[in-house]
Amino acid sequence: MNVGLKTLVLPAGAAATAAAARALADGGLVAFPTETVYGLGADAADSAAIARLYWAKGRPAFNPLIAHVGDISAARRIARFDAQATALAEAFWPGPLTLVLPKAENCPVAELATAGLETVAIRIPAHPVARDILRAFGGAVVAPSANLSGHVSPTTAEHVHHDLAGRIDLIVDGGAVEVGVESTIVGCFEAPLLLRPGGLPRAEIERVLGRALDEPPADADSDSAQPLAPGMLASHYAPRTPVRLNATRLAPGEALLAFGSHLLPGIDAAAVVMNLSPRGDLNEAAANLFGHLRALDTKAARAIAVMPVPNDGLGEAINDRLRRAAVGRE
Ligand code: TXA
Ligand code: MG
Repeated sequence: MNVGLKTLVLPAGAAATAAAARALADGGLVAFPTETVYGLGADAADSAAIARLYWAKGRPAFNPLIAHVGDISAARRIARFDAQATALAEAFWPGPLTLVLPKAENCPVAELATAGLETVAIRIPAHPVARDILRAFGGAVVAPSANLSGHVSPTTAEHVHHDLAGRIDLIVDGGAVEVGVESTIVGCFEAPLLLRPGGLPRAEIERVLGRALDEPPADADSDSAQPLAPGMLASHYAPRTPVRLNATRLAPGEALLAFGSHLLPGIDAAAVVMNLSPRGDLNEAAANLFGHLRALDTKAARAIAVMPVPNDGLGEAINDRLRRAAVGRE
């Protein structure tokens, strides 16, 4: 795809960090690695840059963005932290956790990035390249995953280039990410809510809170004026090829997304087989998930059949993304 802009790709390093900070300050769009997935960053205080960001992704503007900051004092200028939020921030930042909190007074994040909500999503990423860019830029950076809206999130710079070349200014290539699924999102309301399972397992959060995380109400992703989890539209992560879950045998011409060492009946007639983790490791499976889905989606298979994945640890996030992939595009 080329929509006119020259998209520069730079290997991570001092020159790329400086170029990224300069581009952000000039209102540009910069893709960079975080430990979860690649993000597409814009200056959180620059409405014009944020408008371009929504356009570049083809993202509906009612779906708000996560503000990324380098340290907790910057986070406190953006949002109000109660005791629960403070405990989670201390336990897990920097890391794959996003907190949805009430906005601070004079919150520097532009209204457009928070879709007019009274709350703001915020996180301190752990990836050294993201941290260098945040430090060099100095302000908060809003960053959704650096994919076209409706595609799976990018876990390599090549995925970003495939989706967004010609639409953004710079891609900082820091290699493949480590976690592979997006951050876990917790809404810090009276009862803390798990808004999105992700790269930080639920059990670790519940251990710090000393209580179970509630689920958002079933209509939280409806089109109501102030949805609790506006980005959790059912078909958010869909490949073009139909996805069939919990496969126990393979139909001819299907692609197989396998997990573990067990082989399925019918595998001989598979169009292609990719394994999330032959040794059944859920962290490895999360890291491979989006890359494998993207690769299988290019094979013109009848469907992508997916073997069952256990639901513990990162399995909850993997199964969440797989269910969304199976709903298909609207
Ligand atoms: O790992 C991640 O979180 C990555 C990296 C780049 O940081 N970012 C990411 O952003 O996944 P995005 O935009 O693809 O997903 C952010 C989610 C969306 O579902 C959005 O609706 C939700 O966060 N969100 C943002 N602000 C919110 C708010 N105030 N209340 C509820 N949900 C919110
Ligand atoms: Mg996304």
